[in-house]
Amino acid sequence: MNSMTLTFDAKIENEVFARTSGVAFLMPLNLSTEAMMEIKTVLAEAIVNAILHGYQNRQEGKITLSMSISDEKELTLIVEDDGVGMEDVLLAMTPMYTSCKEQERSGMGFTIMETFLDSLEVQSAAGEGCRIIGKKQLKQYG
Ligand SMILES: Nc1ncnc2c1ncn2[C@@H]1O[C@H](COP(=O)(O)OP(=O)(O)OP(=O)(O)O)[C@@H](O)[C@H]1O
Ligand SMILES: [Mg+2]
Repeated sequence: MNSMTLTFDAKIENEVFARTSGVAFLMPLNLSTEAMMEIKTVLAEAIVNAILHGYQNRQEGKITLSMSISDEKELTLIVEDDGVGMEDVLLAMTPMYTSCKEQERSGMGFTIMETFLDSLEVQSAAGEGCRIIGKKQLKQYG
């Protein structure tokens, strides 16, 4: 088992820092470029969601990224914010659903995350922030 936790300000300029730090944590596993790209994309989608939706792009608040790799090489990644949360998680996860149509978002973030993960759990309620828990078996990539 190996794990890390990173807490950073919910500013859009920190998205690259957090995403590349997450990927750097996995570097010793020598994963394929494809697997690294998939994980990087999941991290980007989750972090941007926390900044734009959770904290409504106010550029304040904290986001915590935690990653762990089990002895069986299963990755667990958790992205947490303490923002506005969601009333209806299932609706939010529906492909092409977005609460920001006017900002030309496609509503595909959760769908993309699900595509690149083995499982995705979204824990949220209105006013209670949001925690996403993704799992991905890395054995076949290493
Ligand atoms: N961390 C969060 N806090 C509050 N609401 C969220 C959070 N993440 C997602 N949501 C809600 O879930 C909806 C769907 O998210 P998703 O990432 O699938 O699409 P999007 O962000 O709207 O568009 P895209 O990711 O394609 O640019 C968002 O529009 C928002 O309403
Ligand atoms: Mg999104």
